[in-house]
Amino acid sequence: MSILLPRHVAIVMDGNGRWARARGALRADGHRAGVEPVRTVIEECVRRGIGALTLFAFSSENWGRPRDEVMGLMSLFVESLEAEIDELHRRGVCVRFIGERDELDVRLRTSMAGSERITADNTALALQIAVSYGGRSDILSAARSLAARVERHEITSAQIDEPTFSAALALAGLPDPDLFIRTGGEQRISNFLLWNLAYTELYFTELLWPDFDAAAFEAALQHFAARQRRFGLTGEQIDAGEQPGLP
Ligand code: IPE
Ligand code: IPE
Ligand code: MG
Repeated sequence: MSILLPRHVAIVMDGNGRWARARGALRADGHRAGVEPVRTVIEECVRRGIGALTLFAFSSENWGRPRDEVMGLMSLFVESLEAEIDELHRRGVCVRFIGERDELDVRLRTSMAGSERITADNTALALQIAVSYGGRSDILSAARSLAARVERHEITSAQIDEPTFSAALALAGLPDPDLFIRTGGEQRISNFLLWNLAYTELYFTELLWPDFDAAAFEAALQHFAARQRRFGLTGEQIDAGEQPGLP
């Protein structure tokens, strides 16, 4: 049976540390166990024809973790990207990274740029990986770049509307996420896509990220399909087929 699918799914992949602790393992082992579910959700999105997927891999606040954990995560990102990129390309995935690149080490930056270049023309899935990403800093840099355009007299401040602002953000050109998933049981955004989540359906699961599998993704999609999205209108207006003013 076909269900109403989101066009864009955003995921906070949380709970790796607790998954490891429950097994008496190291936090690093939890992060490593988190690679397989990434593969699974990518495959599921391609298979189902979900056009865009944005994954929160490392937040601007995660820099505050112990140095060993941060270094371990950075190595895991390089290693996983290098191991997976050919398969991602073969599946038609277009990979992009969002976040503050300048803070990343050169090996990771090189790997990221190479992956983006190789997969740039792919159209099966737009995959955004947020590394060193913070929603507030995304909004700030959009505000700064628009202010600079005003200073250069390219636009007037009155021309800064929602589409213009959206186009200055990291997810420029993509529809806002329809479905947000957070694993690990916490019910918070943790500075993920603050602007883009304005009308996103939020789904929280107690499952820890390494345990998130195709069935768990299916459950999130079923939950999404059962929601009535009203965008500020009444349920009766939506039932009567009125189109909300939002994208
Ligand atoms: C998410 O898992 C991965 C990152 C934030 C990099 P955590 O490492 O936050 O796992 P918990 O929340 O401690 O269980
Ligand atoms: C959010 O998880 C960031 C990522 C999953 C990359 P955190 O574990 O850092 O979030 P908090 O600290 O519980 O809010
Ligand atoms: Mg966490």
